[in-house]
Amino acid sequence: MAVISKSEDENVKWNARWITKKDPKTFESNGDWMVKKFVQSYALYFRKTFIIKNKEISNAKIHISGIGYYELTINGKRVGDKVLDPAQTDYSKIALYSTYDVTDFLQTQNAIGVVVGNGRHIKAYGYDFPKMIAQIEIEYKDGKKEVLASDGTWKVSHGPLTENGIYFGERYDARIEMEKWDRFDFDDSNWEEVIETKGPALSPEIMPPIRVVDTLKPIKMHSPKDGVYVYDFGQNFTGWVKLHVEGPRGTEIKLRYAEVLNPNGTLNFSTIRNAEATDTYILKGGEAEVYEPKFTYHGFRYAQIEGFPGVPTLKHLEGRVVHTDVEKVGDFYCSNELINNIHRNTLWAQLSNLMSIPTDCPQRDERLGWMGDAQLSAEEAIYNFDMLEFYKKWLKDIQLSQREDGALPDVAPTYNAKFYPADPAWGTAYITIAWYLYWYYGEAEILKAHYESMKKYVDFLKNNSENGISKLGKYGDWCPPGSVFPKRTPVELTSTFYYYNDVLLLSKMADVLKEEDDKSYYSKLAEEIKEAFNKRFLTPNGYDVIKMSPIDQGTGQTSNILPLFYDMVPQESKKETIQKLVNLITNDQDYHLDTGIVGTKYVFDVLTENGYADIAYKIVTQESYPSFGYMIKEGATTLWERWEKLMGGGMNSHNHVMFGSVDAWFYKYLAGLSPINAGWKKFKVKPYIVGDLNHVSSSITTVRGKISVSWEKASNAFKLNLSVPNECKAEVYLPILWGKYLVSKNGEEIFKDGKQEADRLVFD
Ligand code: BGC
Repeated sequence: MAVISKSEDENVKWNARWITKKDPKTFESNGDWMVKKFVQSYALYFRKTFIIKNKEISNAKIHISGIGYYELTINGKRVGDKVLDPAQTDYSKIALYSTYDVTDFLQTQNAIGVVVGNGRHIKAYGYDFPKMIAQIEIEYKDGKKEVLASDGTWKVSHGPLTENGIYFGERYDARIEMEKWDRFDFDDSNWEEVIETKGPALSPEIMPPIRVVDTLKPIKMHSPKDGVYVYDFGQNFTGWVKLHVEGPRGTEIKLRYAEVLNPNGTLNFSTIRNAEATDTYILKGGEAEVYEPKFTYHGFRYAQIEGFPGVPTLKHLEGRVVHTDVEKVGDFYCSNELINNIHRNTLWAQLSNLMSIPTDCPQRDERLGWMGDAQLSAEEAIYNFDMLEFYKKWLKDIQLSQREDGALPDVAPTYNAKFYPADPAWGTAYITIAWYLYWYYGEAEILKAHYESMKKYVDFLKNNSENGISKLGKYGDWCPPGSVFPKRTPVELTSTFYYYNDVLLLSKMADVLKEEDDKSYYSKLAEEIKEAFNKRFLTPNGYDVIKMSPIDQGTGQTSNILPLFYDMVPQESKKETIQKLVNLITNDQDYHLDTGIVGTKYVFDVLTENGYADIAYKIVTQESYPSFGYMIKEGATTLWERWEKLMGGGMNSHNHVMFGSVDAWFYKYLAGLSPINAGWKKFKVKPYIVGDLNHVSSSITTVRGKISVSWEKASNAFKLNLSVPNECKAEVYLPILWGKYLVSKNGEEIFKDGKQEADRLVFD
């Protein structure tokens, strides 16, 4: 099914009205941690019939949106393969619509059927009950045109999909299915007329949709209790299960989901917190039935069946992997299996958290667009996937959430005033990700589109600082070992670092956009913040910050990592600062990190750039706590929220992507690939040959074509293969391992030398 993608300025002329049901049946369900109870509605079934007589269609398309989520059929046939559509936005302001080519769906007598569920369009968020809008535009071969738009003449009813909500799950009663409800001949005399209602502005959905991208077979099944069957899919992921069943009418089957098991083999629900995460299916009976949910999703590795008629087998359940269907553009593989596994787990964690917005986690009662998690993992995401349209849309969500005074929330789209103002390490997502879109995709337009709003945000940061030190912040270097709150890195330090980051990036953006006055204003402001930062936090003993409270433990690694990342450290203190960081890692922590999500993002780059790539490698390949290897040894198939394996209450998700920033280091420093200027026109190939690593191969499909690099260390040779897209230049740094090297370009020998230091070769 072709989805017609539309450019944003090619706006539809809407004649259609938003429609809904007069008094939808409602139910209460558990909500997220901000709103404990949700009022949600039964799914609404809409239909409309129409006749096309004596006319030949040359082209027909439909524009449609239904919030929270819709599913469209025409004459009983499903249109498109998007699920959980439309992409999430702030529904009080905007909803996205899709356009489908439906030429082949139409006949003389037609019926349109649309099911609409809650999604996040929930009363407790200040929204209303489900509603939809649609418009079919038909062009006939004789040149005539016709428009059929949703209005008060459509019909609506409740149906078999009764309760639904993203945290709650679904309840589907197949006994009350309305056979052929979306066909022309269906008798809808007991359906109600819809009511027209108000709705948000509409904008075309351009980003890649959410789809069912894969189907997993369970690897095992066991029964921890009578009548309870637990399936293991061998992988933590986002989606749902598809049930195959045959049994007596009225049999009620409950499907439950969890990331981990209790020691007795039952599901451990502690990581889903208040999310009910239960799908209930009631059999109509008599024949083989297949069920999978439509308007909810879960984060899980294990799924449980209760109430199955008889004993189920591995064949009765399949895992449906669901996420925004971004294109994979990066590949990374190396000779160290642990690193390959960290890479693999990062990809699963990343994809599990692309649910039309970048979410923190897919399983518990949150699944929110936490901006800190997103900005820290964005480079990793960009190396691995084509994220351009996804982030462009999300930057708009952020822009829309900006307050008059310039403040941004921690979470976008946002639902609650409590999220304002953002911790600067979260709010920075706006500026940092806009900059990445310029840097990795060469998108200067995006900088222009957000420039004024970003300036407003930076002004807000400035208004909330005192003598160059940020007064904002709440989470800081979140989730270091043994804690959720930062330990020896004060929030003030992280916040001021991001204040500096944002002002510095804004000055670079001003340069790109040729805003000369702004460029000098923000460059000067950045200098002032840097000075203030050093005045406040630099001691004769590096960035040593006194304990914030008597219970604070920790080494303060992050306090030293951050200023080194941006070269904020005065020249005369640089050596000691690096040495201090190295000591904090090697002597104090025996080559382990003591960092939260913020420090972890920068530590590997900082060590590598300052001559300690081997230490970075040693940390990354650790298997004892706290480390990535430890997570894997303990059975992780994604990344955890915490360095600890937690199975009790609290902050204990087993599928967060915020520590996934490490994956960008694999591409940048092990494969050695990074842009020298925007959009990869010129890029660096500078692999670090560390530890026992003797082979890396990687490729990235950039906006200018595919770059591939692989290197191999044999007993007396170092071999590097590189392929450079036509439009690009590569600057290659070869490591000197044995004092001699030989370079051939397209098979021809062009360079041979025996220097003692890494040389730089430029390939056109
Ligand atoms: C989320 C995090 C988020 C944090 C903010 C949590 O509940 O899951 O990932 O960034 O709150 O402190």
